[in-house]
Amino acid sequence: MDQHQLKRQVAQAALEFVHEGEVLGVGTGSTVDLFIEALAGSGLRVLGAVSSSERSSRQLMAAGIPVLDTAAVQRIGTYIDGADEIDPRGHMIKGGGAALTREKIVADLAERFVCIADASKCVDVLGRFPLPVEVIPMAAPQLIRRFAALGGVARIREACVTDNGQQILDVRGLAITDPLAMENEVSAWPGVVTVGIFARHKARVALIGAPEGVRRLDFPQQEA
Ligand code: A5P
Repeated sequence: MDQHQLKRQVAQAALEFVHEGEVLGVGTGSTVDLFIEALAGSGLRVLGAVSSSERSSRQLMAAGIPVLDTAAVQRIGTYIDGADEIDPRGHMIKGGGAALTREKIVADLAERFVCIADASKCVDVLGRFPLPVEVIPMAAPQLIRRFAALGGVARIREACVTDNGQQILDVRGLAITDPLAMENEVSAWPGVVTVGIFARHKARVALIGAPEGVRRLDFPQQEA
């Protein structure tokens, strides 16, 4: 099975978390594209979806699934989204598709984050995938220096303007051994819109696509 087939497999498996008549949170990326396709073909009727990107909104609307504004939704049961990396405790790196800010906003609205990913996304320690950080352009030079002080090499992602009109820094060379501490620290730096570490909003469940089938992982929300 190739990576696309593994993604299709977990996208299909995620339908188990869709309840008719509910509002669903929908993320962004190639795995989510396949999930929206599976949802559209499933006959399941959700009340609507809160979407984390213009890209997913367009796909949802094309599939006849109403896209709801956050003004109309106070709480979501389930948020389904992919990840660039996920560690054994359900912490993730996200933002490869530049949608990390809206992804964190939707994750914050949701009771549970269901991560759908192929097995290549599983890592022991986050950081092999360059960490995406959405930033206000004026702050980029000083943020690059701050990351350098942590041992990271940050570069502005070329030809990329986010849905929020900002820039993305991709930071290489970080070993993120304490994701929660790093998320808290970087989030506090002036000019950072969102850091792509999802530790405060980590996965509750992960569906991992592997050649032998879909593996389900459940993560406790409170850590000792
Ligand atoms: C989008 O900004 C990202 O957070 C995606 O969720 C992540 O990049 C996973 O993408 P794929 O499903 O395309 O691998």
